[in-house]
Amino acid sequence: MKRILVTGGAGFIGANFVHYLIEHSDAHITILDSLTYAGNLASLRGIPAAQLSTVIGDITDAPLVDELVSPSDAVVHFAAESHNDNSLFDPRPFLETNVVGTYTLLEAVRRHDVRFHHISTDEVYGDLELDDPNRFTDTTPYNPSSPYSSTKAASDLLVRAWVRSFGVRATISNCSNNYGPYQHVEKFIPRQITNILAGVRPKLYGSGHNVRDWIHVDDHSSAVWEILRRGTPGRTYLIGADGERNNHDVLEMILVLMGRDPAAFDTVTDRPGHDLRYAIDASVLREELGWRPAHQDLSAGLAQTISWYRDNTWWWKDAKVATEERYVLQEAMLAAPGLHNDGDAS
Ligand code: NAD
Ligand code: DAU
Repeated sequence: MKRILVTGGAGFIGANFVHYLIEHSDAHITILDSLTYAGNLASLRGIPAAQLSTVIGDITDAPLVDELVSPSDAVVHFAAESHNDNSLFDPRPFLETNVVGTYTLLEAVRRHDVRFHHISTDEVYGDLELDDPNRFTDTTPYNPSSPYSSTKAASDLLVRAWVRSFGVRATISNCSNNYGPYQHVEKFIPRQITNILAGVRPKLYGSGHNVRDWIHVDDHSSAVWEILRRGTPGRTYLIGADGERNNHDVLEMILVLMGRDPAAFDTVTDRPGHDLRYAIDASVLREELGWRPAHQDLSAGLAQTISWYRDNTWWWKDAKVATEERYVLQEAMLAAPGLHNDGDAS
């Protein structure tokens, strides 16, 4: 694969994947990214210009997408509206980017017979009880909860339909919660780290008992690269690193690693419809492709991530101000009548 088109390459996981490709391949990479509030070209600093072309544009722009897909050997599709909280307050961009954008890419790869890899999420499967012995597999029924996860589920189903109806050579991966450098400060782990660095108390939603299955972003990248090269078209692969922790425990770990009192946080209004637990069974990926995660020590991964945010204030400080202003507005809307805390938007 000499020419790879990466959508969303200026976002958190897309940018980390581009850095991974530069280290592990000699492919020429073109990124297509519309630079929403979540995109940041500074995340691609240090990448040799000869190996990277950057196109600022929208994945719903069919002529542009066609022009970029046609000379590519493969497309890896990360671009999305990715934040659950935002999807509760303004779902439309999620439908446009996640559904119409994926459709636009599928039509282009179909026309030009280009290998396609679709990046998706474990959230399409809904959530699990805390004591459920089962984990998500590729046969778990879809049961998304939020506007975000329902649009990701819709995009997965489009990919499956384009594989079956038109023979598109596509794979899908559904990954659990990522953490690491270049993650937008709206997300749980970087929000708390940057709160502490800014002298603000971290914010825990509700009881803090909700469980997420954490994976280092480099392990996500290595899994996607394996699937792209050796995966079977038409298949879905679940990516996870056995990293289940509840939010309260993760927050305590961050506080302790940063030398703070583990109880020095505020509990705030819970997210409407908040999924309780995600858990991934990645045995297909491990057995079929021999993939293994390299970072399973969450404490070490968090320490590395904390150091990165401490050393790169320039990267996040402007976004931090805008993000916290948005959270203040969202908190006010939650307190207002009309959007109830049980997930009913009425
Ligand atoms: P992100 O929000 O950090 O980045 C998304 C990128 O897509 C940004 O650079 C943004 O500018 C770009 N983008 C958005 N709309 C676009 C459009 N219409 N046209 C072109 N570019 C557009 O997201 P992320 O956390 O890096 O997630 C990347 C992908 O991985 C998403 O598909 C997400 O659903 C999936 N995923 C994320 C996680 C996670 O933990 N963050 C876990 C599993 C799967
Ligand atoms: O599971 C994969 C998904 O992980 C991806 O598909 C999404 O794109 C990604 O955003 C992430 O979704 P979550 O909603 O799980 O991530 P978030 O970082 O928003 O929240 C993680 C948990 O932390 C969740 O239970 C809500 C909680 N939380 C979040 C924030 C921002 C807090 O307690 N306080 C906070 O301030």
